[in-house]
Amino acid sequence: MGGLLTKPATESSVDRLTTLSRDIEEKTRYLTDALRSKGLEAPSYKANGLSDFPLTEVEAVRTRQELVALTKELHDLVLGPRESLKNMAWESVSYIPLQAICEFKIAEAVPLTGSICYEELAIKVHDLTGIMIVPSDLRRLMRLAIANNIFQEPKIGSVAHNRASLLLLEDESLASWTAFYTMDLLAPISQTVAAMKAWPGSQETNQTGVNIAFNHNESFFDHLQADEARARRYDLMLQSHGQREGYNLSHTVSGYPWAKLGKATVVDMGGNEGFVAIALAEAFPSLSFIVQDLEGMRTPEMMDKIPEHLSSQISLTTHDFFQPQTETGDAYLFRHIFHAFSDKYAINILRALIPGLKPGARIIINDIVLPDPGVVSRLEEKSIRTMDVLMKAVCNSREREMDDWKSLFEQADKRFRWQGAWKTSGRLWFIESTWEP
Ligand SMILES: C[S@@+](CC[C@H](N)C(=O)[O-])C[C@H]1O[C@@H](n2cnc3c(N)ncnc32)[C@H](O)[C@@H]1O
Repeated sequence: MGGLLTKPATESSVDRLTTLSRDIEEKTRYLTDALRSKGLEAPSYKANGLSDFPLTEVEAVRTRQELVALTKELHDLVLGPRESLKNMAWESVSYIPLQAICEFKIAEAVPLTGSICYEELAIKVHDLTGIMIVPSDLRRLMRLAIANNIFQEPKIGSVAHNRASLLLLEDESLASWTAFYTMDLLAPISQTVAAMKAWPGSQETNQTGVNIAFNHNESFFDHLQADEARARRYDLMLQSHGQREGYNLSHTVSGYPWAKLGKATVVDMGGNEGFVAIALAEAFPSLSFIVQDLEGMRTPEMMDKIPEHLSSQISLTTHDFFQPQTETGDAYLFRHIFHAFSDKYAINILRALIPGLKPGARIIINDIVLPDPGVVSRLEEKSIRTMDVLMKAVCNSREREMDDWKSLFEQADKRFRWQGAWKTSGRLWFIESTWEP
């Protein structure tokens, strides 16, 4: 557990700083020794630096996470509560250059090697996007981005790539993650409090910050489907999410006893373009998958993403999970689905399954179970609380506590039998019920 800023009560505030710096030193040494012993580099922002920490052993990952929590605590304490609060609010300004980098295609406009002056960069941006931005505005945006470690200015007046900005070119899903959170979500996020004031306690999918920001009456998923480029950004953003520590697909693969299903068909509900099914099919050749999602989310680029050797194991189909289920599978997987729907709609999703369910069919949910405050590490706490509030912002939905999950099945139909819930090695849990008519 890591660094609640008001704990422990027995340690003086001055001693806490000493303890933190000592723990930080110790954990840094553990990691640097491990890197040196393997002849590995540490991550760096130099253009040719390493983008990710290269140690993947369980102990190294744990130590790194603790180090992130400890350095954050030391950072916050040294700043002090007053300045930390100011910084948190002030940080909102940093999203302007981040959004501009995505909208103006600046990663594409800066040459891969060498640098470009602001005047030429403005011309390049115009060539690429048709957007006219004066060099002096570009310079001020870029200098804040550079202060946030994206791009560099090797000589005054000229911009060059660094490791972070190059990643926007090299990793399409990461670039989509950045673009989605700035171009698509920043406006709805900024309107969420307004939506909560306008529609107190609403469970409706069309009474959110999305509706105020974009001035329409559609749900978030209809909003995504209305624009192919946006739907594609969302799909790719999800891939990037699936690669994040804690949300990595490996936890979905290892966290459920899939082998016990034997030769079985799993219907992956809201399975997007099938990346979860791909990971599971690779690991469990006896399983086959029917991946269902909305028609509008299947952009042409996404349709041929199933690797050739898995094509007999995975089929991509379209199905709206609010409509009666027509596939009779052995199991129905819902990964990151229910958290996007308020109880009223989540219950409808479960009920819509019933026409397809055979006795003993499994409903397997891979999602967050909210703990009481302070039970998990600060890092994990921040991550799952962020997800919970994000779900309010875009869908008027929520993450759920254990009893909420049980109650969802009970309210949907008494024939769902609760089988239990357990945490994976990552942030998500498995929650399981079977159909016992
Ligand atoms: C948060 S994503 C989860 C994707 C994937 N299961 C995962 O684990 O990353 C939610 C998915 O549900 C899909 N979805 C939303 N509404 C749906 C509906 N009514 N019927 C089927 N799929 C839907 C979205 O298109 C999206 O792909």
